[in-house]
Amino acid sequence: MTESWATFGADLHLHLDLAAGRRLRAGLTEALREAARSGRLAAGTRLPSSRTLAADLGIARNTVAEAYAELVAEGWLTARQGSGTRVAERARPRRAAAAAPVRRPTRKGPSYSLQPGSPDLGGFPRAAWLSAARRALTDAPNEAFGYALDARGRVELRQALAGYLARARGVYADPDRIVLCAGFLHGLTLLAGVLWGRRVREVAVEGYGLDFHRNLLERAGLRTRPLVVDGEGARTAELTASAGAVLLTPAHQFPTGAALTPGRRAAAVDWARTTGGLILEDDYDGEFRYDRQPVGALQGLDPDRVVYLGTASKSLAPGLRMGWMVVPPGLLDEVLAAKGPTDWASSALEQLTLAAFITSGAYDRHVRGMRLRYRRRRDELVAAVAGRVGVSGIAAGLHAVLDLPAGTERSVVQSAAWQDLALHGLSSFRHPEAEVAPRDALVVGYGTPSDSAWSPTLAALAAALP
Ligand SMILES: Cc1ncc(COP(=O)(O)O)c(C=O)c1O
Repeated sequence: MTESWATFGADLHLHLDLAAGRRLRAGLTEALREAARSGRLAAGTRLPSSRTLAADLGIARNTVAEAYAELVAEGWLTARQGSGTRVAERARPRRAAAAAPVRRPTRKGPSYSLQPGSPDLGGFPRAAWLSAARRALTDAPNEAFGYALDARGRVELRQALAGYLARARGVYADPDRIVLCAGFLHGLTLLAGVLWGRRVREVAVEGYGLDFHRNLLERAGLRTRPLVVDGEGARTAELTASAGAVLLTPAHQFPTGAALTPGRRAAAVDWARTTGGLILEDDYDGEFRYDRQPVGALQGLDPDRVVYLGTASKSLAPGLRMGWMVVPPGLLDEVLAAKGPTDWASSALEQLTLAAFITSGAYDRHVRGMRLRYRRRRDELVAAVAGRVGVSGIAAGLHAVLDLPAGTERSVVQSAAWQDLALHGLSSFRHPEAEVAPRDALVVGYGTPSDSAWSPTLAALAAALP
């Protein structure tokens, strides 16, 4: 058996026995038949003309024409004036019918979810994003299509963010010190490397938080030490000099929902100034504040000691993988060195689109619209559980904490699963070394369901509660 290639726009790969004479024609016929039967040549595929295939294979044109004619007669090929010779529609792989794909029972996840961490994906502003993309594409200079040379990311987006963050979040933001990244997780990964390079070996974290953020730090060689979290946020007065950095969610503690009080903000900044430590501020959902004036970013208190990290994952969509860091001047070179001399982490067109989305006012409009939607859901959630469980952490964000009678968390999560509802207990966010006694509660991500799933999801939750 030898293998031959013929080109006719697309390559035709045949297993062909190139013996001479009649056997050659039979070999070609069988090779084409096998290709059509097995489905390797899909129905409708146009074959090369007999002249071209003959030339490619170095055989007589007649041999190819006869093979084609035989396969047309058998029904494997069709030959029509003007459209050439094609694999017939009914030349379905015969064996494939017998060996039809086995339908494995796929493990279906629960129908409803109140797991925190996602906005309502159905709320993504497709039309406004499309017009921003169109504008970005029209205005993009040619160099935007090349390899990026500035590891900070596109200046258009850094400028747009600097204006927005200063206005909406009270961040002291200079476009030169903004570094774009592929979401918070990417930013934290870069910072973990920088901290390790600075010989930091311990990072203080909140006693309740996301395990994959802690794990990321641990994988980078950094031991995580939990701070107690209560109704005022993390107890920052308990920070010690053994930690080189602290990771905080000051605007809306994840997951308990507390806002870090002014006293504790000041204590964090004092610690950073006296020990030379860094504060990593995770401002993941700061845009969504309902009851009070927006709680500003901690970074405004000391831009030299705080790395501000923002993300589009809650305000727009996690699938965008877009985030940003505002980096203290003394840290910028190290962060850029960690990111690499060129910025290939995210698409320039996406960055330009987000820039256009912000500068046109569409970002503010979208956030305002979603804030109303989430606020309505939050109110419905509070009404649905009123008198049954205590609710906290509801002044901001896309999740709330429902306190449960001691010892019932696990059984409520299990009973939610029976209601076809995915839920997280608060204990799943607890640092393994956290010193306070576990608190039985649910972390309810009311941003997660689509609008149409919201009511049945809420009903499933109500049915699962004790
Ligand atoms: C506490 C916290 N930080 C950050 C993020 C955003 O992460 P990323 O930007 O990597 O999607 C989330 C999203 O769920 C979060 O819950």
